Amino acid sequence: MRVFFTKEEFIKENGKPGSPMPFSEDVSVLGEAVPIGERSSPSRIVYQPMEGCDGEADGSPGELTVRRYERFAAGGPGIVWFEATAVLREGRANPRQLMLTENNAGAFSRLVEKIKETAAKAGNPEPLVIMQATHSGRYSKPNGRPEPLVAYGCPTLEKNGVQVTVVTDEYLDRVGEALVSSAKLAERAGFDGVDIKCCHRYLLSELLSARDRGGKYGGALENRARLLLDAVSGARSECRDGFIVATRLNVYDGAEIPGGFGVAEDGSFDPTETRKLAYELSARGVSLINVTMGNPYFNPHVNRPFSVGAYDPPEGPLDGVARLLLGAEIVKRAASGTAVVASGFSFLGAAAPGVAAAYAARGSFDLCGFGREAIAYPDLASDILRDGGMKREKLCLCCSKCSEIMRKPGGTPGCVVRDAEVYLPIFREFCGEGKK
Ligand SMILES: Cc1cc2nc3c(=O)[nH]c(=O)nc-3n(C[C@H](O)[C@H](O)[C@H](O)COP(=O)(O)O)c2cc1C
Repeated sequence: MRVFFTKEEFIKENGKPGSPMPFSEDVSVLGEAVPIGERSSPSRIVYQPMEGCDGEADGSPGELTVRRYERFAAGGPGIVWFEATAVLREGRANPRQLMLTENNAGAFSRLVEKIKETAAKAGNPEPLVIMQATHSGRYSKPNGRPEPLVAYGCPTLEKNGVQVTVVTDEYLDRVGEALVSSAKLAERAGFDGVDIKCCHRYLLSELLSARDRGGKYGGALENRARLLLDAVSGARSECRDGFIVATRLNVYDGAEIPGGFGVAEDGSFDPTETRKLAYELSARGVSLINVTMGNPYFNPHVNRPFSVGAYDPPEGPLDGVARLLLGAEIVKRAASGTAVVASGFSFLGAAAPGVAAAYAARGSFDLCGFGREAIAYPDLASDILRDGGMKREKLCLCCSKCSEIMRKPGGTPGCVVRDAEVYLPIFREFCGEGKK
């Protein structure tokens, strides 16, 4: 199935039996401001964190990184959710992943200023810029080869025979300190908030399912969520009141990962623990939760429903989108005072604004996040907010080429189709014929 080039195509498909999504012709609700703690997003449109693997060796933003954020800022979102930024060197997902340190904070500060200036020059309202603080855990490749640091051994994810290291409680204590230090550095660098990343089976997300781990980070939910909860509490108490403490949260790891977080015995989404966790996060002062699912390395159809990918998924892409949106609704109900971002809008194509508006108007969640669409179509927010819709010739095709580049050592992902001048040569270099 391909993405929807028109609203009508979507309405026809959505009318089939199953669980139709609401749709609204009037998308004006997307232009409303959304309170987030003491701050506010000028609209309901979020550009999701989209890693470009294009930083410098010291972790500071590179040329393509700066280009990506200038394009985002000029496109007019309410929130620029800044990509995965490592808090410890050994937890970098690749040697070019961004990493914020005392030494390079100035470069991040200049980039945040540039985002705000570019938005102002384009006549857009000032976006909030939230930095995603991460430890890549199982997917750490600080030197370009896998050096997995895992919460627990997981045979399903270790079929490739790579040797893993189960991290100690003392190491996790240090990760917690690094996350809080990173939040303070992000505040100093001018970011409006920090995301204590807990998704996609990176370290904090993997801990959420560490039921058989002993010690203070395993077993009961309060232990499995301890690192996340302590880090958000630490960031809350160490940073000024108006600084947003957020988290990007995996609420379902996917049927392909038995025993994963939010996975029922039959593989379906079980939100029981999600509800408890969302409530607790809100009680700890988290004012913004960005809801996501899946493991981009193992079951990408759960994380980013696609038209064309490396395999035939076991479900249709619309089922995946519906589940992502349901996850956001459940979190919003459990933590009603917290602003909630839903993920997974790219596959909806031209129908995305209408679906997002219908969910937002009924209070299901507050903000809609665009991932792949933002790199394909960076001015999507201005087109929606000024013209009421998206243009078919600019749409993301969900062709998975960005993800393909990202999986190649040294590859710097971007949109091969809509930003071809820059990214088609990169695609050919890393993924062209004869490349493994
Ligand atoms: C190239 C690429 C880079 C990504 N980088 C990040 C990241 O840094 N942090 C994160 O939480 N998610 C990341 N994601 C996931 C997206 O933010 C988003 O959740 C996913 O693509 C689904 O949303 P969409 O359907 O709008 O694309 C990335 C996805 C892609 C394809």
